[in-house]
Amino acid sequence: MDMKKKSEDFIDQVLSEMTLREKFGQLTQLETVRAEQEEELKEKVRRGEVGSILMSVGATAGNTPQGDINTDFYNELQKIAVEESPHGIPLLFGRDVIHGHRTVYPIPLAMAASFDFDLIRNCYREIAEEAANDSVHWSFAPMLDLSRDPRWGRIIEGYGEDPFVGSQMAKAVVEGLQGNALDEVGSVLACAKHFVGYGAAEGGRDYCHAEISDYGLYNYYLPAFREAIRAGALTVMSSFNDLNGEPISASRYYLTEILRDYLGFNGFVVSDYAAVHQLIRNGVAKDDREATELALNAGVDMDMWDSCYINEGERAVREGRISVETVDRAVKKILRVKLAKGLFTSPYCEKKPIDYASHRESAKALAAKSAVLLKNEGDVLPLNRSAKVLLVGEGATERRSLHGSWALDGKVDETPNFYEAMQEKLPINQLHYDKNCESNITDADVVVVALCEDHYSSGENASISHISITDYEKFILKRAKVLGKKLVGVFFYGRPIAMQGVAEYFDAILYAWHGGCEVARAAADLLFGDCLPCGRLPVTFPRRATHLPLYYNCYSSGHEVNSYYGECLPGCYRDSHASPYYPFGYGLSYSSIRYGSVLCDRAELSVSEIQAGKRFCVSVEVENVGMRDAEETVQLYICDKVAKISRPLRELKSFRKIFLKKGEAVAVSFELGINDLGYYNKKGEFTLEAGDFDVFIGENCLTKNKVTVSLK
Ligand code: GLC
Repeated sequence: MDMKKKSEDFIDQVLSEMTLREKFGQLTQLETVRAEQEEELKEKVRRGEVGSILMSVGATAGNTPQGDINTDFYNELQKIAVEESPHGIPLLFGRDVIHGHRTVYPIPLAMAASFDFDLIRNCYREIAEEAANDSVHWSFAPMLDLSRDPRWGRIIEGYGEDPFVGSQMAKAVVEGLQGNALDEVGSVLACAKHFVGYGAAEGGRDYCHAEISDYGLYNYYLPAFREAIRAGALTVMSSFNDLNGEPISASRYYLTEILRDYLGFNGFVVSDYAAVHQLIRNGVAKDDREATELALNAGVDMDMWDSCYINEGERAVREGRISVETVDRAVKKILRVKLAKGLFTSPYCEKKPIDYASHRESAKALAAKSAVLLKNEGDVLPLNRSAKVLLVGEGATERRSLHGSWALDGKVDETPNFYEAMQEKLPINQLHYDKNCESNITDADVVVVALCEDHYSSGENASISHISITDYEKFILKRAKVLGKKLVGVFFYGRPIAMQGVAEYFDAILYAWHGGCEVARAAADLLFGDCLPCGRLPVTFPRRATHLPLYYNCYSSGHEVNSYYGECLPGCYRDSHASPYYPFGYGLSYSSIRYGSVLCDRAELSVSEIQAGKRFCVSVEVENVGMRDAEETVQLYICDKVAKISRPLRELKSFRKIFLKKGEAVAVSFELGINDLGYYNKKGEFTLEAGDFDVFIGENCLTKNKVTVSLK
């Protein structure tokens, strides 16, 4: 008998012995409780009324400190489930292991800036190893919410504004977390979240209404989820938001017709925290009973935290509002995942030694690759080791915020701050730290300003309308400017900020993000050229917040108001110009890179040839014409110039990270096939149309370096 048949028979057998209440128990996730409530939780587990434990306390775990994980407690809970509950079904332990565990890596938005998805995958192998060693079976990552609005605090948790980058991220994180086999020690179940459209909250206001056309859904918001499912994600989390008036957790259209029927997802869906109960406030349920009926019938298999299912489910079945088949289907999905995770054979966490030092090295490497050099006028960077540096700003002594939001298990006291990192680079007589820039130091060669966004200002429930540096930081900047020295800004920020009125102060800007436990050292390495800046922006940095939303893969207007691409009829705003301050894909190196013309092996192909698998081969020569080695991210964009529906002015379709020694030139080539040139129409059908395509290859989305190919 094959394993699948054996597993199904086992599941059918267990199901046949379960009471309806025990079935709803499997559909219920409760959170870890405070000590005084532990006995009550154990009793519920003993009665088979709990299927999963959320290993945190509180609705916004990402911003509230969670205690250390006590694996003995979780093993004790598991023992009760396995040995005392009616059917011995093991518990599934889930936690928000978003961008690290004990070792904190850069926030996901920063990781995306590295464009190094192999390194990201390796880092998530390490993250999974650490989390699994702490009883975690299931991480609520990757967060795959495309976002175009840095006012939204959770933009830090995603990958920015591009579906191609999102797809690369989804694949890397799912494969990294889940490893080669889910039941292997050190593997953790992934959870593609939040399905769907959460990042399109109006005004960047968390939890709020989102409006997305089906065309936008298929071409921007679904690709990352499609890739996560292809990579083997077996769980999805339904999002808090309503989409076009339909609360996702009550929407059969989105959770069954789109997620399962269209994308082919066959795992289970867990609601977000209390999202079932919240259907009352969403205005689609009168009470928890109706909310339960709506959510389960829509396709939410597991109810996180609010106990709606365990409290209301049996009555809903008795009254015929939920069928037993629906309940059984949900239970089976969850049991299949528990089987796949190996919980029936290895339910307990057995600690093993972990090489945290090497994990920290990976975190530092990723932080260095994620940092983006935004400005470097007069090549003030890299700093000379003989330089005398005046370091100012309270960001230089900050530790916790370097981890960013959603870093539940980071060890702050093991995190060097930037002042300490700079002390590792310079002798005491060459480095003076003056937090408020009060001393009138005149013999410094350069002033380095450390700016840091408080981690509470990003993450969940942390939307900010004024996305800039703080008033205190601006005050320090003005003081530093008066000194008449070169000014270098090191930004330990989570979200992108509006750069007008800020960037002008600096001669050089290194955006190091909330780059994790080793970002301080990585930033110091970059400042002195001990490693080379190579990060590229996965999200647009606007001039002003009032220009938002502003994103590179926008559509062309019939008027000349495509401000992102430099057109500036007054319609772009009469009082300002809504071009990006720093565009998608932007980032500098310590050298100068020259791109040759884009060449193509043929000017045209027929639609049928492309559909048969033929491809265009496009290439470009890239030369390092500067004085230093450099790592360049060569980016390929297309513009489908004429189609049945407006297509974006640019779409990133590929990239290559190349290392160029100074003076070195290489030819970089790409192949363009059907998947690069087609799109999804309003019905979600993949469509390839004849017509001309501009193919751009360059240093960021604003490159004009292109060739035109035609599909006949
Ligand atoms: C939170 C978040 C979600 C997280 C869950 C569990 O409210 O929206 O991303 O995984 O609850 O903490």
